[in-house]
Order: sequence, then C-alpha cells, then structure tokens
Amino acid sequence: MSSLKVKDLCKTYIINKIQNNVLRNVSFEINEGEMVAIMGPSGSGKSTLLYVVSGMDNLTAGKVDYFGKEMETLTPNEMSDLRLDEMGFIFQQMHMLKNLSIYDNIILPAYQSKRGKDRKEINDRARELMHKLGISEIAENDTNQVSGGQLQRACICRSLINSPKMIFADEPTGALNQQNSREVMKELNRINQEGTTVMLVTHDMKVAAKCGRIMYIEDGVIKGEIALGEFTLENSIKERERKVSNWLIEMGW
Ligand SMILES: Nc1ncnc2c1ncn2[C@@H]1O[C@H](COP(=O)(O)OP(=O)(O)OP(=O)(O)O)[C@@H](O)[C@H]1O
Ligand SMILES: [Mg+2]
Repeated sequence: MSSLKVKDLCKTYIINKIQNNVLRNVSFEINEGEMVAIMGPSGSGKSTLLYVVSGMDNLTAGKVDYFGKEMETLTPNEMSDLRLDEMGFIFQQMHMLKNLSIYDNIILPAYQSKRGKDRKEINDRARELMHKLGISEIAENDTNQVSGGQLQRACICRSLINSPKMIFADEPTGALNQQNSREVMKELNRINQEGTTVMLVTHDMKVAAKCGRIMYIEDGVIKGEIALGEFTLENSIKERERKVSNWLIEMGW
C-alpha cells in the first residue's frame, strides 16, 4: 500500500514579484514501510519538497495523498492533527524548547495530541523510547546539557512519541560527526524495520546508502532514482556505497 502519493506537485515562491518555481510537476510514490532518501544540489528544492508533502507548507498545485487522505481537502485544523498524530519530524536545527528538560520535550507532542492518552501510557512510551535510544540517563537534563548526538536521539524519541506512520527528516545527521551519524542511522533503520515509513533528505552518501531507494532532485525536478533494496546486512554497506557513488556521478552530483 502506498503511504505517500504525490502527483504533479508544484511549489512557487514569489519574492518581489519574481516567481521562483521551486518544485515543477513532481510525481512519485512511497510505499508503506519504505525508507527513501532525497539527494540533490543545494537549492534544488529538497527541503521544500519535504515541507510541502508533510503539510508544513502549502502547495501551489498538484495532489498529495497521505495514507489515503487527500491532504489538499483537509482544513488547517485537520492538517495539524494529522501532523501531530500521524507524522514524525526530525530536523537538523532541532526545535527543542530550551526551558524544558529532555524528557518534557519528548512527551510534549503526546499532551498536545487530542487522542487522549493517559499520563502513565505516555510516561511508559517515553521511557521505552529513551531506553531504546540509549538516553535514559539524560531525561532530566536541559537541552544544553547534552551532546549533539544525544540531542538528535532525543529528537527521534520525540518524533516517535505519538507512534507516527511516517517520519520526515531533513538532514537528520547533518550536524553530527561520523560516530553519532552512524548511531542515528542505526536507530532510523531499526524504526523503519519495525514498520515506520521514512523519507529523509541528506547530503551524505553514506546515509543515503542505508536507505532502500534514493531520488535525485535537481532544479525542482526528479532527475533519477536508484533502488538499493532494504538495508539489512551491515557487511553489504561497502557495495551499496559504491553503487550510490557511481550513480551520483551519473546524476552529475
Ligand atoms: N520560504 C521561502 N521563501 C522563498 N523562497 C524560498 C523559501 N524557502 C526556500 N526558498 C527557495 O527555494 C529554493 C529551494 O530551497 P530548498 O531549501 O528547498 O533547497 P534545498 O535543496 O533544501 O537546499 P539545501 O541543500 O541547501 O538545504 C531556493 O531557491 C530557495 O531560495
Ligand atoms: Mg535543505
């Protein structure tokens, strides 16, 4: 079944009467359980694509279908509930609230949701996620009392607190060193193997090589894609990276 179906998507920004067609008739489909990377040059429209298909920004033309829901037919309230309850977000600039502890940041979306989970349920879920991501010991720390890798893992916990169907991540490893980047990818791969669909934007070939499929976007158009198959065997990574590297050369990266 399809999780995200995008048809003839256009996004135009107008600044000082100058029209910038950032996305031009983009169509693609992501199936349930897939993990898809978006690559492409700076300014090609990757972040814009992620924002528009996840309802964070409005589209200029086209259709976006999210697990059978036509997004353009939703009211702003329905859209914000959908985002809160059924989507998870991870960004490079992490939007954690500075006056709350890591724990409180993680549980916040659960209290914002109208789905009415009780306090114990939320606490259990948060503790379980923090345990899985290895950050139980920093629960009560402020956001400035943790490492970049820990903060990013806390963001992943927060994005998962409401058990989303799909996660949207914009350069989730962009601010991390190699070690932390590997850790975060390990978690995203695991979350994906547990059934959550993932769409992520990355500049890092090693990150993309751990995704099942890569789409290359240039000037607001999908120029090509490569299917790598699900990443399960750690020892296949060198071969996958070689494939991706050759393909990126073909794409003119
Ligand atoms: N809010 C906005 N208003 C006007 N123009 C915008 C806005 N956001 C992005 N743009 C323009 O849209 C184009 C694509 O930007 P986008 O951020 O999607 O690129 P990107 O592929 O994510 O680049 P990068 O790899 O540098 O993050 C750029 O020309 C940018 O200037
Ligand atoms: Mg971007």
